[in-house]
Amino acid sequence: MPNTEGAQATAPGLFITFEGGDGAGKSTHLQLVAEALRDRGIEAVCLREPGGTIIGEQLRSTVLDPGNYVMVDECELLIYEAARAQLVFQVIKPALQRGAVVLCDRFADSTVAYQCFGRGIPRDIVDRVNEFSCQGVWPDRTILMMTGGDAEMGIGRATNHKHADRLEMAGLEFHERVNGGYLALAAADPARIRLVVSDEPKAATARKVFGQLADLFPWMEGEGCDEAYFKDLVDRRDSLRRG
Ligand code: TMP
Repeated sequence: MPNTEGAQATAPGLFITFEGGDGAGKSTHLQLVAEALRDRGIEAVCLREPGGTIIGEQLRSTVLDPGNYVMVDECELLIYEAARAQLVFQVIKPALQRGAVVLCDRFADSTVAYQCFGRGIPRDIVDRVNEFSCQGVWPDRTILMMTGGDAEMGIGRATNHKHADRLEMAGLEFHERVNGGYLALAAADPARIRLVVSDEPKAATARKVFGQLADLFPWMEGEGCDEAYFKDLVDRRDSLRRG
């Protein structure tokens, strides 16, 4: 694991990442948390990896393009890390410095799950490049979302409305290894990585996600964070998506 003790000790912001296999509902729940933070006047910066910068989005297209089927695992690893280095320097560090809550859809744990457990690149190599690209930034909390079904169910959900990308096409066994990797990561660091199974309607899953953040934001389990509020959050997000 990278040396991350007190990683952003001098920055007043909070860094929360959402992880999980494809189709686990990370981006939905990230948006719901962001909306709730904004309801309380807190700046929430929503990002995704790879992406979140112009360079990162270009690298995303390259790494996910099914046409790039000749890409070797070493190249894949370094593209993810390159996108991360840019995002950390250009967006995450400045946001944490000004006190924002940064919510990121995937971060360095994805590289351990996909490139180490999935592809088979040795852990010490992945940890070293992660440490290099993260530049001392490390998540304060990670919500690990799992579907409650097998990897096939997640891929089915992820590719419901679009063509599969290069990673989604990597095969069922690959995605099962990725899910196993995530569970191993969570078992090794239960204080940071909190497992949420997304096997219920969105509002009920949102309550579980908020519960895993309530030590950081006590109001997330307090008055007002009831069934009606979660339903309203989900409705607002759904109407934004339709609009
Ligand atoms: P997503 O943002 O739609 O989840 O797509 C990103 C894909 O890239 C997803 O299949 C996971 C994969 N990925 C890695 O393999 N390694 C990484 O380090 C990251 C950030 C993502």
